[in-house]
Order: sequence, then C-alpha cells, then structure tokens
Amino acid sequence: MAAKDQKSLHIVMFPWLAFGHILPYLDLSKLLAQKGYKISFISTPRNIDRLPKLPPNLTSSINLVKIPLPKIAELPENAEATTDIHGGQMDLLKKAFDALESGVTRFLEESDPDWIIYDFAPHWLPPIAVRLGISRAFFMIINAWFLAFFGPYDALISGSDHRTKPEDFMVPPKWVKFETKVAYRRFEAKWIVRSGQSTESGFSDFYRGGNVIDGCGVILVRHCYEFEPDWVTLLEELHNRPVIPIGLMPPRVQDLNTNKDGDDEIWVSIRSWLDGQNKGSVVYVALGSEVTLSQDQLSELAHGLELSEVPFFWVLRKPSGSTESDLVNLPGGFQERVNGRGIVWRSWVPQLKILSHDSVGGFLTHCGWSSIVEGLMFGHPLITLPFFVDQGLNSRVVAEKQLGVEIPRNEEDGSYTRNSVADSVKLVMLENNGKKFRERAKEMATIFGDTALHSRYIDNFVEYLENHSSV
Ligand SMILES: *[C@@H]1O[C@H](CO)[C@@H](O)[C@H](O)[C@H]1NC(C)=O
Ligand SMILES: *[C@@H]1O[C@H](CO)[C@@H](O)[C@H](O)[C@H]1NC(C)=O
Repeated sequence: MAAKDQKSLHIVMFPWLAFGHILPYLDLSKLLAQKGYKISFISTPRNIDRLPKLPPNLTSSINLVKIPLPKIAELPENAEATTDIHGGQMDLLKKAFDALESGVTRFLEESDPDWIIYDFAPHWLPPIAVRLGISRAFFMIINAWFLAFFGPYDALISGSDHRTKPEDFMVPPKWVKFETKVAYRRFEAKWIVRSGQSTESGFSDFYRGGNVIDGCGVILVRHCYEFEPDWVTLLEELHNRPVIPIGLMPPRVQDLNTNKDGDDEIWVSIRSWLDGQNKGSVVYVALGSEVTLSQDQLSELAHGLELSEVPFFWVLRKPSGSTESDLVNLPGGFQERVNGRGIVWRSWVPQLKILSHDSVGGFLTHCGWSSIVEGLMFGHPLITLPFFVDQGLNSRVVAEKQLGVEIPRNEEDGSYTRNSVADSVKLVMLENNGKKFRERAKEMATIFGDTALHSRYIDNFVEYLENHSSV
C-alpha cells in the first residue's frame, strides 16, 4: 500500500535502552518502512551496532541514528543497554539516558520529522516535540493491562495515587469495572512498591510514564481486540486520548534467516536434537535475558525439570551484567542425569525456529509479552514463572484465559519448589486434565498467528499517522 500523501512521512523512533524495547521498536520501524515511510531510528552507538541486520531492501528507508550516551561515572565502561548492567544500576542508566536530551533535541531540530514514536522513559521529550511541531505517539511495547493498572497520568505525575502498600496492588484497581482476577501477588506487589519509590535518577517510572502519556497525542499498544477487548477501552477512558492497537506484531520465521552470522550452524545442531524427539513432547524453557535466578531458584527449576521426566530444551544464558562471582550453578550431576532427555543451552538460540518445531509442545516462560506472542502463535500452552514489571499481570491473563498454568509460589518471597515445577510441567504437557490448556492454546494460534489480521491493524495505524501528522 503506497502512502496516499504527496510527501512520504518521516518518523523518528526512540526506544528505551533495553533490547526488549529496542527490538519491538525496530520491528515496528520495518513495518512502517515497508509501507513507504522514512524512518530515523535513534539509539546509542553500541546498541545500533548490536542490532540484527536489516533486510537489504529496507536499509535505504531506515536511518540508524547514533547518539552517544553521556558518561556517568558509576556505570560500567561501555554500558549502553540494560543487558550490560545489573538490576541495581537501572536508575544510573536512566540518569545517563536523560542526558541524551540535548543530542536528541539537536537531531530533531536538524531533521524536522513529522512524527516521533517514543518510549516510557523520556519525560523531558514531549515539550521539545511540541515546540518543534512534531506529532507524538507513545508506544507501549507491553500490553494494555499493565498501563491501565497504574491509573490516570495526572495521578502518576503528581504521585497522588494513594496505593502505597503491597495490598493495594493485590486487587484490581477501582477503575476496573469488568470482571477480572488480574492483580499482583504479594511478592510482586512488594517489588512494585519498591520500584515506585526508586528515584536515584531524580524521577520515578510513574513520573516518567505520566509525563510521556500527558505529552502524547496517541498511545500505541501491541494488542488486538480479538484477544482481549476490555483493557484497551479502559485505557482510552483513563487517559482521555486515542489508544491504537497495532496488532500483536507476530514475527515471521522466514525473516529470522539473515539475523546473525553462524545462526544456521546453531540451528542445524538444535534441529537435529529436536528431530529425534516425539511430536509435541518437548517443553521449551526460556526466562528472557533480564531475569537473574538465585541459586535456589535455579536449583529448584532444574530439579523440577528432572523430576517431571518431560523432554526439555532449556536456554540458560548468563544473566545481564553478571560477573563470575554472581554465577549460579546447576545441581551436581544434573547434566549427566538428564543426558539425552534434556538440553541446557548456554548461548543465543533462534527461539522462533525452536518454537515452530513440531516436537515442541509447551513453553515455560517468564511471561514477557513478546515471548507470550511467540509461544501462542504456534499454539503452545504456557507454564508461567513471572518475575517483574508486567510479567505477573501477563501471567494472570494467561491463567484467566486458560492458556496455561502458573507455577505455584510462596506468596511472601516468590520462592517455588521442585515439585511445584514438576507438577505444573506434567499437567500442561502430559495429563488429561491439562488437555483444556493445550486445546485453548491451539485455538489462540488462529488469532496470534493470523498475519493478515495483524497487518490490518498496521494499515489502520498508518492511516492514523497520515490523518494526524502536523504537515
Ligand atoms: C522487501 O523484500 C521482501 C521479501 O524479501 C518483500 O516481501 C517486501 O515486499 C520488500 N519490500 C519493499 C519495500 O520492497
Ligand atoms: C482517516 O481519515 C479518513 C478521512 O477523514 C477517515 O475516513 C478515516 O477513518 C481516518 N482513519 C483513521 C484511522 O483515523
């Protein structure tokens, strides 16, 4: 579809410094470039250098803009993304990010774009874009329920949301009028309360989120009504501006072929193992790149997989920002005992290709929204082990819709036992009363994997961009 205007729009993309944000922003950039728009994708030099290769026919439409990250003494040398630091340094990275303001302003002044699509962090950006006459969209890479859970933007900015105790986050907020069990568990709610108070960078995430919403003309969510209709509508009411679902952006397996050198060799070796397993028998285990398991969490997960007797493929990468001394170990003799039945893979994998393989029958996930989309587009039921931010709420939605089960946890500290892991894995993968999860997840593949449906959402969004650009 060609852009219907005489002039093709120039759109700036500005994600937060985390690959979990940068990659969905890059995916959206590709979808927009494909429609004929000119994209300027802003990040720091080292992050740009770490991006997957662009398809050759889009390289001329997507301009990768490197703005150096100002140095903050306490941050590790060359740390430019959350994957380079540990959790305790998050606020410092935000402080450095805020210092990108002058570089970003200069770029916007010089390049005169029509639109900027930005993330939750740059609370200082909207007034600059307003001054320069640039239309503004806030792209929430995660789902509508997380944002709606935290309430109206003015309360986020002023801090007048009176929920300050863990209990306050353990029930749906008062503005949710429909039936739902979506709320945090105690151990998650404690984390939410703590992170709301964390302001070493000078600004809490609530304050950042409130300001980026207040300053935008439209909120974009990776969502579709066919999966869930209520939360988007609520979000629109809460923030009193349009919320546009841009579809679930399911990735295309064939697009992954050219991502990295050496991918093919890795895939050939993984595939030969998967080829030797029975159809639907393998549980794929991956907890994302930002979850750092404690020794106890790692051991119980390992013992649980062993006890389940289900074949597994476990991607266990070094947690971000970890040093040798933080490394945790698999239980002694584990690898030998599961030899043949289970694989522990220590480096990058082509996740989508694994999930698309016939032998995989379930996905044990931390419930990042991208992972859920990737699992459900292939109809895999989920075994969920959420850790932070939106993951707990995503997991509740998965459970509410009977697309899988949550591994039972201790309410106070979130710990879990090997038996709770083994029972959850067996229930979803093997047992008769787990059949409903497998069937429901299969049904979901018709929505999550429907590329025509999601491409219509993008078309609608593109129409919105055209209708509301300030040129
Ligand atoms: C780029 O190439 C892909 C296939 O390689 C094709 O599907 C797509 O339409 C092309 N896009 C443009 C803008 O030419
Ligand atoms: C764009 O504008 C046209 C003409 O006014 C209108 O029919 C269409 O619904 C608008 N689309 C969006 C997505 O706003």
